[in-house]
Order: sequence, then structure tokens, then C-alpha cells
Amino acid sequence: MRLSRRIQGLPPYLFVQISQKIAEKKARGERVISFAIGDPDLPTPENILRELFESARDPVNHRYPESYGLPAFRQAIAGWYGRRFGVDLDPDTEVLPLIGSKEGIAHIALCFVDPGDIVLVPDPAYPVYSIGTMFAGGESYAMPLKEERGFLPDFDAIPENVARRAKLLWLNYPNNPTAAVADAAFFRKVVDFALEYDLVVCHDAPYTEIAFDGYRPMSFLEVPGAKEVGFEFHSLSKSYNMTGWRVGMAVGNAGIRDALMRIKSNLDSGIPQAIQYAAIEALHGDQACIKDNVAVYSRRRDKMVSVLRELGLGVTTPKASLYIWARIPDGYTSADYAARLLDDTGVVVTPGTGYGQYGEGYIRLSLTASDEDIDVGLERLSSWKGSRV
Ligand SMILES: Cc1ncc(COP(=O)(O)O)c(C=O)c1O
Repeated sequence: MRLSRRIQGLPPYLFVQISQKIAEKKARGERVISFAIGDPDLPTPENILRELFESARDPVNHRYPESYGLPAFRQAIAGWYGRRFGVDLDPDTEVLPLIGSKEGIAHIALCFVDPGDIVLVPDPAYPVYSIGTMFAGGESYAMPLKEERGFLPDFDAIPENVARRAKLLWLNYPNNPTAAVADAAFFRKVVDFALEYDLVVCHDAPYTEIAFDGYRPMSFLEVPGAKEVGFEFHSLSKSYNMTGWRVGMAVGNAGIRDALMRIKSNLDSGIPQAIQYAAIEALHGDQACIKDNVAVYSRRRDKMVSVLRELGLGVTTPKASLYIWARIPDGYTSADYAARLLDDTGVVVTPGTGYGQYGEGYIRLSLTASDEDIDVGLERLSSWKGSRV
């Protein structure tokens, strides 16, 4: 068997390594508390499950779906974008359902990137932006996200020749892993930059519904001109506790949608229809679960931020997302700090470098462990002496 260069060049998926470490500890009978993965512990709401079960019983839904999704689902997505963000979308030309947003994020580079092309990718970032780029034969150019700039990229720091060769620009706000948010002024700059260099903007926005203290994150598409250059990826995973059902969407520019649709129609056969009906119920039905989720995450955020600060970590209280991005004390690398924490306390966090070189000096903690695990984990962290070097 001779593996492709593509697969040989692939770094091990970050969470696979973490999962292995957890499995080893568990095999030794230790209780491991994981703050590593952003997978909501809260169940899918009952009204959504009811729709899923009922639709699953209907034989019409036992057959191949269309890769471009049920018209009713595309209309539900457009309706939700209109109600939530005031963004007007044509369900037939500007909306594309995805088998979880990760699927579309991984495939979009195939639409625009030829071997040797550059993709502008934030660093630190969700790893799939650069992996998708690599699969298409492109090169990622890292845009550092630095704390002193609110974890927003500095377009002026990108060399002219790099910007000219770039085809695609990735952004993600509310941000994973830094929990940073972006405002209209920043998004306006993005549109200008994209127009100047003829870039496709891909904004990844799965965390707009997880926001605290009354803050309401915006869609990139709210900014005038965004639809000319951009496409926004969204997901039902985090808003409605539906990570396991694999359903998301991408919306915006009709040409970008058409290109991704062409790739997808050759690769997959769409989202199982019962799941699409469940997703329609999620978007159209009672939205109380979002408020309930946010109340839970907000309580957890406050507890965790306060213990992390006691430990001497530098933490800005997140306004949105499922994450806390904490600056570790001097004298450690983020990988050493995370390893030491796991060894000493059995608490798993993600080292910042798992999201890129500019993640050095930070760890990421997720708000999606159960309340009980959070209490046990925080208790262990409170009594941990290791960080006080
Ligand atoms: C920034 C970001 N984008 C996309 C995804 C993928 O979400 P899904 O494929 O479940 O829609 C995640 C999941 O953690 C994420 O953090």
C-alpha cells in the first residue's frame, strides 16, 4: 500500500491525539475531566427529536435525498437568516444545506484553489480551513490573530504579492479558539480588502447563537457588499445541540454557492431527509432552547473564568462562543502546560498550538462539559499547585 503524499503530509487530527491520551488514562482507571472538545453535552430539544422520529417513519424519507437539500429546508434557512440577521436570501440560488458545516468548509477550496494558490487563513484557527486548502493543493498563508488586536487579522501586514496570489480568505467570528468577536467596521474592511484583491471571503459563523450578557453577534452578510464577495458557513450543531445529526448550511453569493454545489453533487447525496425535517423544526420552532443553552454556558463561563484567574491565567471573559482562551504563565509552552495539567489533575485542555503557531502561550477550555464534570474539574484546578512556578 502506498499512501498519497496528501495523506502523508496530514497532521494527526488534533482531537484524535487528545482522545488517545484520555483513553490511556481511563484504561488506568483514572477519572478524566475533559474541557477539550466543543461538543454540547446538552441534549437535542424534544420538539426537534419528535420531528426527527416522525419523519424517520415516513418511507418517502428512506430514499436518497438531493444533494442541494429539500426546498422546504432551504426556505427555512433563508427565513431564519431573514428573522435573525435581516439578511435577504434566495432559497434556490443563495442557500446550500451541508452535512454539517465541516463538510462544506473542507470542500470549498476545491472550488477556487488550484495547486500553488494561496489561501489566507487565521492563526490560531479551526484546523479544517488549512486542511481543506492542502487537499486542494493550495498553500495556507497564516494571518496571526494577536491579543493586542482583539484577535482580528491585520490585512495591512499581508504582503502585496501574497494578497495578489490569494484566492480565498477565511474568517470566523465569534471565534474558535479565541472567543473573539467582530463588528461591522471590521467586516466592512474585509469587504474592501476582498474587492481590492478579488478574494472569495468564507466566513465561518457557527457560534452566533452562543452569546452572553445580551450581546448579539452579527452575520458577515449584514454588511453592504458582503454578498458580492462572500459566503457564510453556519450550523445547527451548536445552536440546537445537534452535533450528532450532522446538519449545517452555507449561504451568500450565488456563484460561490453554485461552485460548491457542483463539487458536492459529485461527492455526496445530501443530508438524510428526516434530519432535514428536524432541522426545519429547529429553525422554525420554539427558540427557547437557545436562551436556555446560553444561561447554562454563561453560568459555567463565570465559574471557569474565576478559577482560571485564581490560577494566574490571563483570561478575558468571553462575549460569545463555547470557549475560554486563557494565557498561561511564563515558563511553559502551551503543550507542556496542557500535558502537566493532564498528568497532575486528570483535566484535559487543548494546547493553543493545536490551532496554529500563534496559539503558543494559550490553552483553550470548552464550556461543554457537564455541570458535574465542571465542578470536579474546577475543584482539581483550584487545588493544583503546578501552575504556580
Ligand atoms: C469554528 C468551527 N467551524 C465549524 C465547525 C464544524 O461544525 P459542524 O460540522 O458540526 O457544523 C466547528 C466545530 O467545532 C467549529 O468550531
